[in-house]
Amino acid sequence: MAKQMTAMTRLGLATVALAAASVPAAALFAQAPAAEQVDAARIAKGRELFTNWGCTGCHSLVDADSHGDVGPHLDGGDRTEEFIVSRITNGQGAMPAFGGQLTEKEIADLGYYIAHVAKKAN
Ligand code: HEC
Repeated sequence: MAKQMTAMTRLGLATVALAAASVPAAALFAQAPAAEQVDAARIAKGRELFTNWGCTGCHSLVDADSHGDVGPHLDGGDRTEEFIVSRITNGQGAMPAFGGQLTEKEIADLGYYIAHVAKKAN
């Protein structure tokens, strides 16, 4: 009887240990998708800026239902957020500089938006 109790106690302890060990793993799995989540508010803000500031007149971008053909199509390619922000801020050739007109936050939102919605294949 005493032996049996010991075995059952061990089993119980093992179960508790197993449950405790599985907690950090579960927390890890719960965090992984959250880290990849896109900030929907910034996407919406970026889309609004893209439309309101005339980007649509010169650039095509499927997400914004934009068909401008003066500048490069913004879908496809591998532009980084950093590159996009720099182009919007400083302009280049026929691309106007928006640095003095949009706030840094607005330009950052535009960069975030374009980098996230640009279709990878064109
Ligand atoms: C008057 C037309 C015009 C408007 C308006 C305009 N762009 Fe451009 N944009 C261009 C042209 C032309 C280029 C190419 C410049 C070059 O490389 O010589 C360009 C380049 C870019 C690039 C870099 C693309 C690349 O691959 O080189 C980004 C990003 C961009 N524009 C975003 C925007 C955003 C965002 C807006 C609105 C805030 C905007 N543009 C408004 C004409 C325009």
